[in-house]
Amino acid sequence: MAMSIALKRLSRSFSTISSSNPLRVCVVGSGPAGFYTADKLLKKHERAEIDIIDRLPTPFGLVRSGVAPDHPETKIVTNQFSRVVQNERCSFIGNVSLGSSISLSELCAIYDVVVLAYGAESDRVLGVPGEELAGIYSAREFVWWYNGHPDCSKLDPDLMSTDTAVILGQGNVALDVARILLRPTFELASTDIASHAVAALEKSCIRKVYLVGRRGPVQAACTAKELREVLGIKDLYVHIDEADLLKTPADEEELKNSRIHRRVYELLSKAASSGASHISGQRELHFVFFQKPDRFLESDDKSGYVSGVRFEKTIVKENTESGKQIAAGTGHFENIECGLVLKSIGYKSVPVDGLPFDHHKGIVPNVGGRVLSDASGDRMQFEKGLYVCGWLKRGPTGIIATNHHCAEETVASISEDVEKGVLIPMSSSQQKPGREGLLQLLDSRNVRFVSFGEWEKIDTAEKRRGMLKSKPREKLTTWRELLKIASE
Ligand SMILES: Cc1cc2nc3c(=O)[nH]c(=O)nc-3n(C[C@H](O)[C@H](O)[C@H](O)COP(=O)(O)OP(=O)(O)OC[C@H]3O[C@@H](n4cnc5c(N)ncnc54)[C@H](O)[C@@H]3O)c2cc1C
Ligand SMILES: NC(=O)c1ccc[n+]([C@@H]2O[C@H](COP(=O)([O-])OP(=O)(O)OC[C@H]3O[C@@H](n4cnc5c(N)ncnc54)[C@H](OP(=O)(O)O)[C@@H]3O)[C@@H](O)[C@H]2O)c1
Repeated sequence: MAMSIALKRLSRSFSTISSSNPLRVCVVGSGPAGFYTADKLLKKHERAEIDIIDRLPTPFGLVRSGVAPDHPETKIVTNQFSRVVQNERCSFIGNVSLGSSISLSELCAIYDVVVLAYGAESDRVLGVPGEELAGIYSAREFVWWYNGHPDCSKLDPDLMSTDTAVILGQGNVALDVARILLRPTFELASTDIASHAVAALEKSCIRKVYLVGRRGPVQAACTAKELREVLGIKDLYVHIDEADLLKTPADEEELKNSRIHRRVYELLSKAASSGASHISGQRELHFVFFQKPDRFLESDDKSGYVSGVRFEKTIVKENTESGKQIAAGTGHFENIECGLVLKSIGYKSVPVDGLPFDHHKGIVPNVGGRVLSDASGDRMQFEKGLYVCGWLKRGPTGIIATNHHCAEETVASISEDVEKGVLIPMSSSQQKPGREGLLQLLDSRNVRFVSFGEWEKIDTAEKRRGMLKSKPREKLTTWRELLKIASE
């Protein structure tokens, strides 16, 4: 029988390896969690052969599509990740989506070990009236838009019909988004920001940004370096109400126990007391505390569009169950008028068919990375050969390096199971097909996968286009362009 196109590409795209009794591993997701897992497995297990699949034709997850364009130093980690795929026992197979190109049960039948590291690609919802109005976006969508993710390149947020944006949440993502809206565009133009975003930001009428937290400055979720950066934006007027900085004894206790919160609180206090006055034409950043979103207001002039947010004033009080200080409504309301709202209240993972999932926590239930199928009886039951890592395992918090430790734990669990003999088949007749089986299945479904070599063509094309504009790269932002360049 004639060799299929996919299998011909396979022999060109991947080096063949010839371990007699390999451990065939598929890592789903090529973000930090996926790459750290692959790296550690390769080092720990000489017989491991690893395929990293990703639904995008491009690797690196949020390092490419989340990390802000004006943080190029953070993206250097992609060099380390690229070296992982250079190992002949490892490959990247892009444009393959778990859940649509291939199911979880199919993947588990093909590989000895499956590690799910596909992150958190949805959003927490507020569940307040008006959330569906036009002009309200999740921070994830907005970030994907300015970072050129192909799913959001057509988002086209209207930055011209309003001078005011409200950002809900005060974590580091909220700060990234505020910075992108407020930073002079000439400073962004030389980054790898998508060109459609620079063009829109150049014409933007947004002058005033409200960063709204439901709790106080003591509980702000951002970190000091990121806060300092937004406070340091050129020609920016920053407003913080000094009355919000008053601390309760419980706040004092909280600050005593957290260096990060202490530093953030100090920076906010310093900014509040700086006494700078607003100069006409200056862009403004307002930190608003103790306000929780109650509903979104619809415009009278433009039906279906947001015209503001109604907030309920809160006080912060201790929750006896969690021991944490939480926001409680006071029954007093106030509105902030705006034409753009960015909800930056956290990401959310989504399950695929057949995967145990804790909908409350938004994670795959696991113990040390082993996927838990049942914890109801006396003994915990695990899904054989199925593991989890990164945001899908812990929830959507933590920086890139956090996933390093997370991968260490998951790989330790895999290693233990290998040593116990749980994972490798006893006889060669029971051996799973691994990569060859995957590619045959993709071929039968006409799924056009993208190899690492083909990603390198995209990389080269983006860098070449960037050079013409004095940018590190000009990202290809549509599926069509990405797949076209990969095929050239
Ligand atoms: C906006 C933003 C900015 C950030 N900036 C920084 C920063 O400056 N510094 C820092 O240290 N940390 C930063 N972080 C945190 C850091 O990005 C995360 O800790 C890290 O990316 C999480 O890694 P992950 O591998 O779990 O998920 P991701 O990085 O999200 O990787 C998941 C991968 O899985 C793929 N995938 C999704 N679904 C499927 C599927 N069904 N099938 C196949 N593949 C799939 C995705 O395409 C993606 O490549 C930022 C986070 C965000 C949201
Ligand atoms: N430069 C960097 O290193 C960088 C950049 C970006 C992101 N990251 C990391 O990526 C992770 C995700 O960041 P993130 O900003 O998405 O999440 P985050 O740090 O968890 O912040 C979420 C924010 O949303 C608020 N919030 C949650 N639910 C809410 C609700 N129902 N109503 C109102 N507000 C609500 C939270 O307030 P409460 O505190 O009251 O819950 C908090 O202010 C973090 O670990 C972050 O440090 C790092």
